[in-house]
Order: sequence, then structure tokens, then C-alpha cells
Amino acid sequence: MAKYIIQGGTKLEGEINVKGAKNLALKILPASLLSAEKITILNFPDIEDIDKEIEIIKDLGGTVEKSNSRLKIQTKTLKNIKLKTDIANKFRASIMFTGPLLARAKEVMFSHPGGCVIGAGDRPIDLFLDGFKNFGVEIAYKNNQYHLKTSKLRGCQYFFTNISVTGTECLMMTAVLAEGKTILKNCAMEPEIKYLADYLNSQGAKINGAGTSTIAIEGVNKIKAGKFKIIPDRIEAGTFAILAAATKSNLTIKDCNPDHMQILLNIFSKSKIKYETGKDWLKIKKSNIILPYSIKTHEYPGFPTDLQAPYTVLMTQARGSSLIFETIFDRRLLYTDMLIQMGADIIMCDPHRVVVNGPTKLYGKRLTSPDLRAGISLLIAALIAKGETEIDNIYQIERGYEKIDTRLNNLGAKIKRIE
Ligand code: EPU
Repeated sequence: MAKYIIQGGTKLEGEINVKGAKNLALKILPASLLSAEKITILNFPDIEDIDKEIEIIKDLGGTVEKSNSRLKIQTKTLKNIKLKTDIANKFRASIMFTGPLLARAKEVMFSHPGGCVIGAGDRPIDLFLDGFKNFGVEIAYKNNQYHLKTSKLRGCQYFFTNISVTGTECLMMTAVLAEGKTILKNCAMEPEIKYLADYLNSQGAKINGAGTSTIAIEGVNKIKAGKFKIIPDRIEAGTFAILAAATKSNLTIKDCNPDHMQILLNIFSKSKIKYETGKDWLKIKKSNIILPYSIKTHEYPGFPTDLQAPYTVLMTQARGSSLIFETIFDRRLLYTDMLIQMGADIIMCDPHRVVVNGPTKLYGKRLTSPDLRAGISLLIAALIAKGETEIDNIYQIERGYEKIDTRLNNLGAKIKRIE
């Protein structure tokens, strides 16, 4: 298993470019199945989850050409309706293929999607299944496989009892080729959902309201060829901003959209972290004193759960106490135990809340990355820490952050990758 050996205590300096948004690219690839024509995708992040989706598309009968800067996908016909179990099991976003397959082939088989262990038990898919039923889909479960079938997708009304990002995106994609009108209510409002809708509309879909809590979709007969440039990853940009503040570095983050990071920047202002923004860049300036600020994770435009772990590391360096309240996932604070091993003063109140008392010195340790966002947080902690940190299971970091060791080393970090 590959690992990182990190020498802590170095200041970072310079410019870093943000890659395309993982959580948009992972929806755009499945959306390509809605069309039989050529799809071109630009600025995709070159990460393992994308490779897994490419494998799924090929297995379903599509052709995929991948070069450095573009992906070309075409699925003239589908030769298969079952998502490859050994791949789909490994990542949550595999569920995104279900809606487009129902729309295109009227049938799909899949096992329960895997992914980061951050929710209670298996992360649930009840909202997807519930929503599909409203479109006229029959659902069976046998031999660990869901089997979904429909004679015709019919537009429907659906109210999400829990706000779900992938749930919203999946039902929106399902509705695009359904007969008649669909109204989705209590939808997630993440920017990626709006961009997914814009992309589908550029191919002939009729989606209104994406990015708000109510989305109306008028079904069409055909989705045409398309070309799409993935927007910058707001979570990667936010992670770099936190990394810069936590290591007291001067860092310019390029190719990002500060408008998508408003809550983090507002909190930076309250924490006395100095920054400047432009249309597509963000500059974090070395701030020696950081004030504590309590956060509660929330659906967009609230504080993103995907930045909760990096932010908790930042708060270990703030002067005073802060409360971190994780409201979206049940098991997304367990990594704090590793920060405690590194010297952080963190008290777990219950599975959803920790109090962080800062500032504390952190010390290098041998650690294992439990999941993607906790993993990058350990890397940030390791860069702050005195001495050497070893992080194992870095597959869980590299799944979401392209060539992160090289990119941070270019800024002065000392990260050695060992196979
Ligand atoms: N939920 C249900 N039933 C469902 C679906 C979700 O109860 O059928 C619950 C979840 O258990 C959770 C809440 O609803 O408590 C919200 O989960 P959501 O469905 O919004 O999460 P997701 O769509 O599975 C996406 C991102 C996550 C990100 C969350 C929240 C993708 C591929 N994943 O997950 O990203 O944390 O939204 O913003 O888009 C990551 O990138 O590290 C990551 C985990």
C-alpha cells in the first residue's frame, strides 16, 4: 500500500491551480449515457474515481478516449444494463449511472454503492429508490443486486424528505427523458447541480430551477451531442485556502471561483485570516493569529461537510475554543482521534460534535487515512506538525486530489510518496 512520509513545519509559498470539480465530473460522465452521440468533457480531474467511471461506461458498451485534457465518450448502443459489481462497490458516485440507464435502457442492475465510510452503516439510497418508484419504476432486490425496470418513465412530483446532492442530480437526470413534466422539491442547491443542468440543457434538455430548492423538468425525446468544461473544484480550493491559513503561508489559489466559497471566506474574516479575491483567484496571506470560530455543516450555501475535517485542523491552530458540529454524516468526526494522537486538544461531545481548544502544537505520528476528506486533513496536520508523519492508505486521499504530493511539493512541502 502506498504511503506518504511528510516532514512537517515547512511554510508553503507560491501559486497552486485548482483542478476540475470531482463531484461534478462524477455526474457528467454518467450523464453522457443519456445521449447516443459524441460527448466531450474538458478539465476533468485525473483521479481514480473518474477511471472507475470510465471502466463502467466501457463495460456498458460505450467508447471512451482519454487524453491529458479531454475525455471523448460515446454510447451508441448499450450492451449491458448491469453495473460492474467490483467497481460500483467501491464508490458512491456509481449510483449516478442508475437514472441515465433507466432513461436509456429502461432497466438497470447494481449492488449497493460503496465509498467513504462516513455515514451510518451502508450509506442509504432510499431517496433514489423512492423517487424512481414515482417515475413508474419497479424495484426488486435479489442476490445482493437491485433490479430496476420500467416500461416507460413517466414525469412525476417528488419531494425529498432529506436533502440529497446525488439524489437530486440522479432524479433530475432520470426526468430528462421521461414523458411529461417532473417537479422535484426540497432539492439540494449545490453549484454542481446547476452546472449539470446547464450542460444537459445545452444538449436539448428542458430543466428549470436547478440550483434552487424546486426543479422543474419537461421531458424530451432526445439528448444531443455535447461539450462541457468542468468548473473548478470548490472543495479543493477551500482545502488549499485552509491549508495556507493553517500553515501560516502566503498562497495564491488560481482557477477557482471565490463566489462558491462565500461561507468559508466570511468565516476567515471573522477568524482574522487575511485574504484577497479576484474573479478566478484567491490569495491567502500569512496570519499569525487566528481566532476560533464555531461551525455547523449544512447543505449549500452553508458550510460544506467536505471542508469540515480540514477546518477542524485549522481550529487546532486558533487562539481559543470552537465547536465543530457535523450535521450531514454520522461518522465524519472519527478522524479527530488521530489529531488527538498528534497533540490536538479535542473533546468529543457526541458523534456529531467536537470542541477544539487551540492553539496546540502538533507532532508527527504514524497514521492511516480513513477516508478522502479526513485523509487530506491528516496531510494538513502533518504539514503543521513538528517532525515526521507517515500516512498510510493514501489511496483514500488520491481518490479525490490529483497528484497532491507533487503539487504541494512545488510550494515547498516535503512529502515523499512511497509505493
Ligand atoms: N441520505 C439518505 N438517503 C439517501 C441519500 C442520502 O438518507 O438516499 C442522507 C445521507 O445519509 C446524508 C444526507 O442524506 O446524511 C446527505 O447526503 P447526500 O445524499 O447529499 O450525499 P451524497 O449525495 O451521497 C454528495 C457528495 C459528498 C458530499 C455530500 C454532501 C458526491 C459524489 N458526493 O454525497 O462528497 O459530502 O454530497 O455535500 O457528489 C466527498 O467528496 O468527499 C463526498 C463525500
